[in-house]
Amino acid sequence: MSDDQSVQSFETRAIHAGNTADPLTGAVVPPIYQVSTYKQDGVGGLRGGYEYSRSANPTRTALEENLAALEGGRRGLAFASGLAAEDCLLRTVLHPGAHVVIPNDAYGGTFRLFAKVVQRWGVDFSVADTSDVDAVRAAVNDRTKVIWVETPSNPLLGITDITALAEVAHGAGARLVVDNTFASPYLQQPLALGADVVVHSTTKYMGGHSDVVGGALVAADAELGEELAYHQNAMGAVAGPFDAWLVLRGIKTLAVRMDRHSENATRIAEMLTSHPKVGQVLYPGLPEHPGHELAAKQMKAFGGMVSFRVAGGEAAAVEVCNRAKLFTLGESLGGVESLIEHPGRMTHASAAGSPLEVPADLVRLSVGIESAEDLLADLRQALG
Ligand SMILES: Cc1ncc(COP(=O)(O)O)c(C=O)c1O
Repeated sequence: MSDDQSVQSFETRAIHAGNTADPLTGAVVPPIYQVSTYKQDGVGGLRGGYEYSRSANPTRTALEENLAALEGGRRGLAFASGLAAEDCLLRTVLHPGAHVVIPNDAYGGTFRLFAKVVQRWGVDFSVADTSDVDAVRAAVNDRTKVIWVETPSNPLLGITDITALAEVAHGAGARLVVDNTFASPYLQQPLALGADVVVHSTTKYMGGHSDVVGGALVAADAELGEELAYHQNAMGAVAGPFDAWLVLRGIKTLAVRMDRHSENATRIAEMLTSHPKVGQVLYPGLPEHPGHELAAKQMKAFGGMVSFRVAGGEAAAVEVCNRAKLFTLGESLGGVESLIEHPGRMTHASAAGSPLEVPADLVRLSVGIESAEDLLADLRQALG
């Protein structure tokens, strides 16, 4: 087996990249370096290059190397949350007077960051349906510095053509940023398709066990990676050693988890399609989904997220969420256990009254890796 990670398969890199045996003890798992500062051998004499854990910490370095290897980027950076990663990216690449194109379907917290925080610093944005390349082209102006994409999107599971939008962005002198949280690098490789930066809420599939909040950036080029690393240290919202360790551990099983999430979600989406109490099922794995062909081209499988509209409106959708038992009612996604939620009142409440407002009859599922039969039975009883 080659030691050159660029020729190793994804599953191998997930387990080995950044995970070198501890030089002191030979421990096969990188230790949790729960430490803030490092003894120097004389002033400026750093052992191993570490001086203070905001700037760098060995457990975080292991995760950052792993992230870069999995996304095929030059630099990976780990943050305290997905939103901390987004904030660092935006304040690195934008300046007052800049313009951003954001999707009309995105995580509500991302929209809130643009609308309530970034905008106050003199950056304006246009909202566009990013699954429509012409609509994005029309939204770009001569001040556009970033086109932001979520694919599959949260919570409507829309699919955006990464290659086409990379061309639009680069033609306008802007960067294409892809939030790869829903797909994970196992299912989708945005940098190989032309994106400049990948964003993750590692809280989700990367961590995979609903036990950590974290975020990540991976930059395609070393220069931007260096600038982001400078801002990561200057702004300070880094991943702590234990959180970095949990994400690194979760990633080792990412490939097998994503295969199972995708299989279970496909069975659930198919059942919901024929259920009389369900109006519309949003899952890119269904042939009738408008982004199905594109998703089949740019993703390895269709992922674990399924949304659907309940016949009977908002009250009926809330009732389904309340009746589910095995599907735990809760925000977040991407863990081994299945979750159900009402985006309009929960994850996307902050987008109410905006162009990103979600349908009131929408229910979102994060399909876990339990037995598909048990999950199907729970949904059937919840639908009544
Ligand atoms: C697609 C997506 N991006 C970003 C975030 C923000 O990540 P975090 O909650 O880790 O700050 C979330 C959180 O739900 C998300 O779903």
